[in-house]
Amino acid sequence: MGEHAPIRRPEGVKVRYRRMKFDFEDGFDRYWHGGSPFRSLFWTQLSTAFEPGEKFFIDSARALKDQIDDPALYEEIMEFCKQEGHHTAQHLKFDRMNAEMGIDIDRCRARYRRLLDRAREKLEPMEMLAATAALEHFTAGLADTFMKHDHLTRGADPKVQALWAWHAAEEAEHKATCYDLYRQLDGGYVTRAVTLPGSWILIIWAAIVNTIMLLWKDKKLFTTDTLKGFWYLFGWRGFISGMLGPFLQYFRFNFHPWKDDNSAHIQQWQADNAKYIQNLDQVLSSG
Ligand SMILES: [Fe+2]
Ligand SMILES: [Fe+2]
Repeated sequence: MGEHAPIRRPEGVKVRYRRMKFDFEDGFDRYWHGGSPFRSLFWTQLSTAFEPGEKFFIDSARALKDQIDDPALYEEIMEFCKQEGHHTAQHLKFDRMNAEMGIDIDRCRARYRRLLDRAREKLEPMEMLAATAALEHFTAGLADTFMKHDHLTRGADPKVQALWAWHAAEEAEHKATCYDLYRQLDGGYVTRAVTLPGSWILIIWAAIVNTIMLLWKDKKLFTTDTLKGFWYLFGWRGFISGMLGPFLQYFRFNFHPWKDDNSAHIQQWQADNAKYIQNLDQVLSSG
């Protein structure tokens, strides 16, 4: 195995499915993120990426999972698929509620779907897995930024925030699953390094275009809130600019997601959010 030997997860981290029930289903404001149209609609449109995105991730892992002979990783992949499937189900509920408020959810989701469908057509299974590993590194980077920087989530409706906090915690929890599968199948450095910039740029591009489109439809585009919103994403300690570090780390030959141990945040999340977890006993006994 040599340099491909899996890096052990930190104590207490285990990828496991949690069945959730959130309060956002009781309703929330259109501009639920501190009253800011930009911040709210940025997150609202991002939610629409998950149905096509997580299906892409699940399909790429499922297509190759039978080629490994590591039962622990196999089991982890199955839990990963269940986690991603449940993320999609919860985000679809959130999306439906936004659509009922007249937000053009379908067009946002279609933009993400078009990109991912094009990738499916062009990529071989191992390349598709490399794209998945790159995008999982993106979601893990967002999750890490989300969990570490309170100023990015300040003012958000706690009912909606709970959905995103759960998703962030589980993205951190399974951040190495697809990467480890890729490595166990002897996926090479060049493919994963080449895949990263393209997949990140396309997702960020779609997110920005969607946000601008929604702001335009709400007649909220040409406002100081939009300027502040771009600073929120790309400024000092911004949500996306904060991901420059993780972006660069991925190009290291000996990169592994768990070299950055953020497991304390996952544990903190579980301790603070037990009320939303429907199968908590089962989760705790499997931990
Ligand atoms: Fe997810
Ligand atoms: Fe994920």
